[in-house]
Amino acid sequence: MPDTRELDIVIFGATGFAGRLVAEYLAERHADSGVRWAIAGRSLPKLEAVRDALAAEHPHVAALPLIVADSGDPDSLAAMAARATVICTTVGPYAKYGAGLVAACIAAGTHYCDLTGEPQFIRRMIDAHHDAAVAAGVRIVHCCGFDSIPSDIGVFALQEALNERDGEPAEDILMFVLGTSGGVSGGTIASMLHVFEEAGDPLVRTVLIDPYALDPADAPRGPKVPSPMKMRHDPVTGWWGAPFVMAAINERIVRRSAALLEGRYGERFRYGELTRMGRGVTGAMSAAGLSAGMGAFMGLVALPPTRWLLTRFVLPAPGEGPSRQTIEEGYFTILLSGRRSGEEVGRVVVTGRRDPGYGATACMLAESALCLALDPLSSPGGILTPAAAMGAPLRARLDATDVQFEFTSADSA
Ligand SMILES: NC(=O)c1ccc[n+]([C@@H]2O[C@H](COP(=O)([O-])OP(=O)(O)OC[C@H]3O[C@@H](n4cnc5c(N)ncnc54)[C@H](OP(=O)(O)O)[C@@H]3O)[C@@H](O)[C@H]2O)c1
Repeated sequence: MPDTRELDIVIFGATGFAGRLVAEYLAERHADSGVRWAIAGRSLPKLEAVRDALAAEHPHVAALPLIVADSGDPDSLAAMAARATVICTTVGPYAKYGAGLVAACIAAGTHYCDLTGEPQFIRRMIDAHHDAAVAAGVRIVHCCGFDSIPSDIGVFALQEALNERDGEPAEDILMFVLGTSGGVSGGTIASMLHVFEEAGDPLVRTVLIDPYALDPADAPRGPKVPSPMKMRHDPVTGWWGAPFVMAAINERIVRRSAALLEGRYGERFRYGELTRMGRGVTGAMSAAGLSAGMGAFMGLVALPPTRWLLTRFVLPAPGEGPSRQTIEEGYFTILLSGRRSGEEVGRVVVTGRRDPGYGATACMLAESALCLALDPLSSPGGILTPAAAMGAPLRARLDATDVQFEFTSADSA
């Protein structure tokens, strides 16, 4: 399939907040790489405006191809999918707009990557399309942004380093968010709230409760794990941890990677995520404060009247997002601590330049699309995770750009 197509990559949703940043990233960083790409969306005038704004800064994109396609129009999705090696989509909420495109990509033999963080959407795609994607050799890769690449590729990097050094992986990896600075867009809020709108669906409730909800149906059940919604103390580092807002999706993606990578993380692999709050009484009090704040926010968005008030008057609307300054000045640092028998055996620190959800996410999604389009990959087709689909080649791409993965052995940690 690859280079017989007219285009390497189509960015679908380029008129939205995240999609524009992905298009900017390609225009800025891949001016001379020869990659053939286009932008797509449901409105031609909006696409023309995006291209004009890009061309004002980067004249080489003045003739960038524009593709009109609508999530509600299967023929337009099929025609778009047939033109490219990879469709990279930022059209969300994915649970609302995404299913038709996954089906169109598999039918056209086109690889796919997205920014979803919606576990119920991923479960539906696994159930409906995994076998067909395997048969077609098509890689459908969800969660190629801040959720869940730092966690998923970070765990992959740590386990590869430990397998190479010791001949065995860590049994247990705990991820701590050490620091982040950034903002949130209306599209992300809409996707988060859509989960609550679907709460009546029994599948949604199961997926939100079961820590192994995204594992293959025939995978052996993993060990019991603590709830990502509770604060806890880590005896290895002495840190208190508060819930991390993205743990619910990241943990499930990492567990799916563990299952798809068949034994490379070990049979009894355990994974969890926390926000680091410090040691002692101060750490415990900070963790309790953040846990209570998150619980209160979740309570407000779970109730339809307060959800309406928040979306109407407080939270950003679709299309809106953080300022240019917030994006440029943003960053993130996370630490993955690998353990065996309760002893730390190695760490990976992941650092990202620019706002995690937008600047760094544009880099991670664009590099995922480039990796799927251009790199020789050995993974099979299927509904995959970043680590299972792209592992080492994606890590190498990110290390050379804005998101770096650094391994240290426990002795020097
Ligand atoms: N994983 C992460 O780290 C991460 C980070 C950022 C964003 N996200 C996710 O990315 C998604 C987009 O976020 P955003 O802030 O960019 O949202 P946004 O600004 O609201 O953009 C949504 C895009 O979808 C398009 N769209 C809506 N309905 C469509 C349809 N029927 N057919 C075709 N296109 C349609 C919109 O087109 P119009 O311009 O024509 O309305 C727009 O281009 C969300 O699901 C968000 O949760 C994830």
